[in-house]
Amino acid sequence: MSERDVIIACDFSGADETMAFLGQFKGRKPFVKIGMELYYSAGPDIVKRIKAAGHKIFLDLKLHDIPNTVKKTMKVLSGLDVDMTNLHAAGTKAMMEAALEGLTRPDGTRPILIAVTQLTSTDEERMRNELLINATLEETVLKYAQNTKEAGLDGIVCSPLEAGMVKEKLGKEFVTVTPGVRFADSAGDDQRRITTPERAREIGSDYIVVGRPITQAEDPVAAYERCVKGFLGE
Ligand code: C5P
Repeated sequence: MSERDVIIACDFSGADETMAFLGQFKGRKPFVKIGMELYYSAGPDIVKRIKAAGHKIFLDLKLHDIPNTVKKTMKVLSGLDVDMTNLHAAGTKAMMEAALEGLTRPDGTRPILIAVTQLTSTDEERMRNELLINATLEETVLKYAQNTKEAGLDGIVCSPLEAGMVKEKLGKEFVTVTPGVRFADSAGDDQRRITTPERAREIGSDYIVVGRPITQAEDPVAAYERCVKGFLGE
């Protein structure tokens, strides 16, 4: 189901800016991540426009609600013909199973469905003091990943530095989608647990999600090609 690729996080606030950005790519059409900011400002229409321009789409809306609501929402999203979408594993296995059911089309096809385990902005102290979770961050990520697999989903979002451990525990086929990628010679921005495209390939990420190192680059197409070369070796 998974083919390794570089996904560009199109964290823009409007449709025109996004289409102008993507219009620069004349050769290989990048896999595009649409997050909440863009989706909530531009609506389902932006998904259709990017799809019509020939891109694959990861719709990153991180659903988390009661199973019935998530199932019905996933049914709507399956009609948008995206290639990948996601939810929070914290919604429990019942919610994830319902999501899978809603996302699966009558002909049995569906987008790749992955789960967010713990957000990289959550640390162990906050987990303990605010969420009353007393396990370590690593144990929590692995337990949520296990739940994700048992619910029949395809994989998780995690730090590239965790991808090797996740593959080791849950199998090579369990998909890892990893943000937090930076060139060795570029700024880390607000990302903490980062690595390079080359190293992400070695560790075993299936998809790297790269935003600012490409969107804010002087030459975004060249920055994208550099990522593809580093990650896919092409
Ligand atoms: O600009 P940058 O490369 O840091 O963008 C990374 C993208 O991945 C952003 O859209 C961010 O919201 C997303 N993301 C992340 N860490 C997570 C989950 C998603 O950075 N744990």
